Amino acid sequence: MRVGNIPIDPPVILAPMAAVTDLPFRTVCEEHGVGFTITEFLSAHALAAGDKKTSGKMTASLGGRKFGVQIFGREEGPMQKAAEMAVSIGASLVDINMGCPAKRVVAGECGSALMREPAIAQKLVRAVVAAVPADVPVTVKHRAGWNDANRNAPAFACAMVEAGARMITVHGRTRTQGFSGKSDLEIIRLVREALPREIPLVGNGDVVDIAGYQRMRAETGCDAVMIDRGAMGNPWLFGRIGALEAGRPDPGPPTLEERLAVYRSHVKYILELKSGPRVLHEIRKACAWYARGLFGCNAFRLEVWQTPAIEDVVALGERYFGRLIERRSSLGLAPEADRVEMNAIVDDAAA
Ligand SMILES: Cc1cc2nc3c(=O)[nH]c(=O)nc-3n(C[C@H](O)[C@H](O)[C@H](O)COP(=O)(O)O)c2cc1C
Repeated sequence: MRVGNIPIDPPVILAPMAAVTDLPFRTVCEEHGVGFTITEFLSAHALAAGDKKTSGKMTASLGGRKFGVQIFGREEGPMQKAAEMAVSIGASLVDINMGCPAKRVVAGECGSALMREPAIAQKLVRAVVAAVPADVPVTVKHRAGWNDANRNAPAFACAMVEAGARMITVHGRTRTQGFSGKSDLEIIRLVREALPREIPLVGNGDVVDIAGYQRMRAETGCDAVMIDRGAMGNPWLFGRIGALEAGRPDPGPPTLEERLAVYRSHVKYILELKSGPRVLHEIRKACAWYARGLFGCNAFRLEVWQTPAIEDVVALGERYFGRLIERRSSLGLAPEADRVEMNAIVDDAAA
């Protein structure tokens, strides 16, 4: 799949997620074969006002990899300035958030609130398109609609394309659903039906495994899938989807050794790329992510959250995975046994 001249291969995108899809996590996902990554949403107003904390989150992918920046706002001037800033750090794509359900965002008539005002949303798209070079596609991510009575995603998506959007992502929940209930595949299918064929559609919501990816593709006809919560602590999902798309056998879930290696590289990126109190928080989070569902993970997480020194937390992670590897070998199992979804190192009760 392509957006403008950006190849998205395999057709799977790491979704923007505030305080989650930072540079360390994006890098880990890129190294595991995700097709494309986008920064978390950034306030255009804050960027245009020179807010350092916000601009600090606008980070280019490492190694010259292509990436997108997501912005949100309601005023054309700041949106244009924010888009120009994104292009100046090398973004290949600028995505406009029209799906955020958070009260503080909706109170400012931004995010999903724009789905109630397609004319204003169109103005924003036109303004951003005018502010960036022609080879930088402007894209929009939105929801099924505001609420059940207003599931206007198909008409809204078409209006955004008419204004110049070159790719649409639909999260199949309404604003009032927030993150509860189910993401609706049918509304995503209706958007695909309504959009011009040459505009790629990305389906989003509830995809946490290969079966979910296949279902999203088959039932909606979408051109790519965006994965969010399902990727946390599970960057291997991207490589598995890549194998599927390339007709190669599914490598299966990771071995403990592979988990440990990714834990180490995620921690390394956090230490290299982050600073301040977030470092401890992010490393604790990485511990929790990569241990999820494994034997003894609840006790491990508790210990991690009670340990105040960064180096001690890092060492706890090493010890935890080391102990699991020993446990597996004392059970007479080889590393390949980890690739079987339900095996001796999985703790169902703790998942
Ligand atoms: C903690 C959190 C932060 C999010 N931040 C953003 C964001 O910055 N921009 C955005 O477009 N969507 C954001 N989302 C929504 C996700 O991108 C996605 O649409 C939603 O989680 C559904 O996909 P999933 O079921 O794969 O998680 C966020 C979701 C969560 C849970």
